Amino acid sequence: MSGDLKIGIAGIGTVGEGVVDLLNKNHEHILKRTGQNLKLVGLSARDRSKKRSFKVNDYLWFDNPCDLASSKEIDVFVELIGGSDGIAKESVEVALTSGKHVVTANKALIASHGMELSKIAESNSSILNFEASVAGGIPIIKLLKESFVGNKISKIYGILNGTSNYILTQMEKTGKSFEDVLSEAQSLGYAESDPSFDINGTDTAHKLAVLTSLMTGLPPNLSSIEVEGIQSISAEDIIFSKKLGFCIKLLGIVSEQNGNYIQRVHPCMVPIKSSISRVDDVNNAIFVEGNFVGPVVLEGLGAGAGPTASSVVSDLIDVSKGKNVLPFGCKLENKEIKLDKDAARLGPWYIRFKVIDEPGVLAEIAAELKNQSVSIESVLQRGRAPGECVSLIMTTHETEEKKFKAAMQQIQKLKALAEPPCVIRIEKLLRN
Ligand SMILES: NC(=O)c1ccc[n+]([C@@H]2O[C@H](COP(=O)([O-])OP(=O)(O)OC[C@H]3O[C@@H](n4cnc5c(N)ncnc54)[C@H](OP(=O)(O)O)[C@@H]3O)[C@@H](O)[C@H]2O)c1
Repeated sequence: MSGDLKIGIAGIGTVGEGVVDLLNKNHEHILKRTGQNLKLVGLSARDRSKKRSFKVNDYLWFDNPCDLASSKEIDVFVELIGGSDGIAKESVEVALTSGKHVVTANKALIASHGMELSKIAESNSSILNFEASVAGGIPIIKLLKESFVGNKISKIYGILNGTSNYILTQMEKTGKSFEDVLSEAQSLGYAESDPSFDINGTDTAHKLAVLTSLMTGLPPNLSSIEVEGIQSISAEDIIFSKKLGFCIKLLGIVSEQNGNYIQRVHPCMVPIKSSISRVDDVNNAIFVEGNFVGPVVLEGLGAGAGPTASSVVSDLIDVSKGKNVLPFGCKLENKEIKLDKDAARLGPWYIRFKVIDEPGVLAEIAAELKNQSVSIESVLQRGRAPGECVSLIMTTHETEEKKFKAAMQQIQKLKALAEPPCVIRIEKLLRN
């Protein structure tokens, strides 16, 4: 593209302000390095009079993001509003059908409507870029679409949500409960006032759905992902995981197994000596296994104004250079990834039971596990309190998920159990 790239931004909150800041502060640097003149022309947000970190009046203002999206004044529409549907989706569709290019940081939108938006972009010869939608400043999408395009990718896993990683890290460092650490994270601004999507695994699932599509060439399908969050992890689980040589991380994992793709989001126990266990606080990390490149790791800040703006601007520079790589790196096949619970994981487990301390309880639990051929690797009991509740910890050897869950169903019926057991998968990793 010759001349200026005229940019319209809808959504000037955390990320939008970061993008404006980067475009202003690094304008000359970008021009010198790339020869591209990125020119911010128009803005849209809910409230024009809101206090911002820059002068809104220096740019054209549009009350309705769809008017900005179709405006003749812009070449590229940057959607930084958020949400899978509503005005974010509508304005992106308007931009693409008006022949504009689109850059977005919106994982919920791409995970939910990636296929249809990709088709609209293709049929209008528009570029649709979304690097910032997964892991903020880490350039994982470009890596999968371009650098690793010659590889078959067999597995991707990672810490994809900074808020949940911060909570787990702080629980480990301070010994505090989930609830206490969450409210501290909220007061420090590391967790939103409604943190549900971060802690229940939904945000990680959105990002995993996007990564899976880039890996497989199949449309993103959120309903094919098994999702568990970190809400039920207790301070006790953190203590026991350490004793057993593990640390707990919320991982998004996609792997290929006999031609099927298995996508999972759940807390995992990973070896305390592994590199992923050292990815602390709001950091993200992504591990990729390609059949020629081998295992590769990327780590960095997965959110925040600066890192996210860095990815948005990288996408804008690609647009200004006219680099039109298909949104997911290839034409997506019209085929669904299905959730195949039976083909699910084969691996070891951690189980914490709260049981009444009385003779025979361990034998009853062991008998139910044996019935499903679940083999116990270790047993730990913390303290003794005859007649009272105590924690009983077990780890299993490698077990088929279906058999493990069947055993758990039976165990939950035992009278000695004071509450449902907490179960956490112990994960094999590409690298330790
Ligand atoms: N925050 C991060 O670190 C991060 C990282 C990666 C990706 N993302 C993604 O980036 C996107 C933006 O996130 P954010 O954290 O910057 O959100 P945010 O701070 O809540 O900002 C949202 C912006 O959208 C505007 N907006 C909301 N509804 C609107 C409507 N109906 N019409 C016009 N404008 C509207 C708001 O206007 P007002 O300012 O007038 O209220 C605000 O400027 C989301 O998709 C998010 O998932 C965020």
